Amino acid sequence: MTVTEPAASADPAASRAAEILSRPVTINGLTVPNRIVMAPMTRRFSPGGVPGEDVRSYYARRAAAGVGLIVTEGTYVGHESAGQSDDIPRFHGEDQLAGWARVAADVHAAGGTIVPQLWHIGMARKQGDPPFADAPAVGPSGIRLDGTEGTGRAMTRTDLDAVIGAFAEAATAAERIGFDGVELHGAHGYLLDQFLWAGTNRRTDAYGGAPVARTKFVAELVAAVREAVSPGFPVIFRYSQWKLENYDVRLAETPQELEAILAPLAEAGVDAFHASTRRYWVPEFDGSDLNLAGWTRKLTGRPAITVGSVGLDGDFVRAFVGEGAPVQGIDDLLDRLERDEFDLVAVGRALLQDPQWAAKVLSGRFTDLRPYDAAATRTLS
Ligand SMILES: Cc1cc2nc3c(=O)[nH]c(=O)nc-3n(C[C@H](O)[C@H](O)[C@H](O)COP(=O)(O)O)c2cc1C
Repeated sequence: MTVTEPAASADPAASRAAEILSRPVTINGLTVPNRIVMAPMTRRFSPGGVPGEDVRSYYARRAAAGVGLIVTEGTYVGHESAGQSDDIPRFHGEDQLAGWARVAADVHAAGGTIVPQLWHIGMARKQGDPPFADAPAVGPSGIRLDGTEGTGRAMTRTDLDAVIGAFAEAATAAERIGFDGVELHGAHGYLLDQFLWAGTNRRTDAYGGAPVARTKFVAELVAAVREAVSPGFPVIFRYSQWKLENYDVRLAETPQELEAILAPLAEAGVDAFHASTRRYWVPEFDGSDLNLAGWTRKLTGRPAITVGSVGLDGDFVRAFVGEGAPVQGIDDLLDRLERDEFDLVAVGRALLQDPQWAAKVLSGRFTDLRPYDAAATRTLS
């Protein structure tokens, strides 16, 4: 890593950011050298599901610039209905895993740590590219996020076991080929979230109904992953209140409902939670300033990663969240870190824009940061 020590900066806010964000933290024995996480971001640069040379250097560049923990783009587990696009990387198959092994090696050589984000899209699947073009969309009740039935079907016991097996196998592979842990994608309305959320889970068996029953499938999956890897191999779980194309729906309306979902997952073996929000500074429930990551840490006692519009300039944040939305500076983020509201901070688009983002922030060079431009999502620079 090129940046290990915060450099002196004339700007006190920048010096404070460099000092606080440079503190190491551990997740189940894994030492993350600082508090900056690269958020998982689908890039679609992996033809045939194989991450190649360009994907390797894209991640390694960010590790070399000081990102403490990289969460890769979502990568499909080995189940026929897990995904739909042939240019999104897969986490199964010889060539695909060989490509991923090289990504992990390059990130380590650059001084970073890295976990793959393991993904099954469930009822979000519309059509499929080969080699799984004919597989059906599957989900807890065969219901899409918009409430329609579409062409998918409700998962049978055999399907549940197959998906659990696919996640466990992917986690085993991650450990074998040199990753530092795994992140399970339980957010944004994809398969695991479809079980957690009442809008898509209408099952009347043991896997549907009250929040704790809706958590049962995911808890079994976490337990299987935990069992499949070494006890000291970190398992991170990402979840969100919001869903794709529907930012207003929620998994939990109260801290009690949230606890009913998260406690069984922590119990099943989640080592850290990644609470996906679009704006980190928004309080999650009435009567407290805590954001979703803050509540997650408080309710589970596990390390928590926050995310949402960190490092984006005001104009873009306004464009993203709506005209007139309040924009929060970095001081608020640092105050929350200092209070141990959460432990790590994931950064998405700002890191797409500027591979050197972490190096600049960790050395207090705020004036060198580049403003965000959405064109950054179209290249692998
Ligand atoms: C291009 C792009 C692709 C994304 N892909 C994923 C993904 O594969 N998995 C996931 O959990 N979140 C995904 N996200 C959400 C990000 O991880 C992150 O939560 C979001 O961008 C908010 O963080 P930011 O404001 O720092 O960008 C994606 C976001 C973007 C911009």
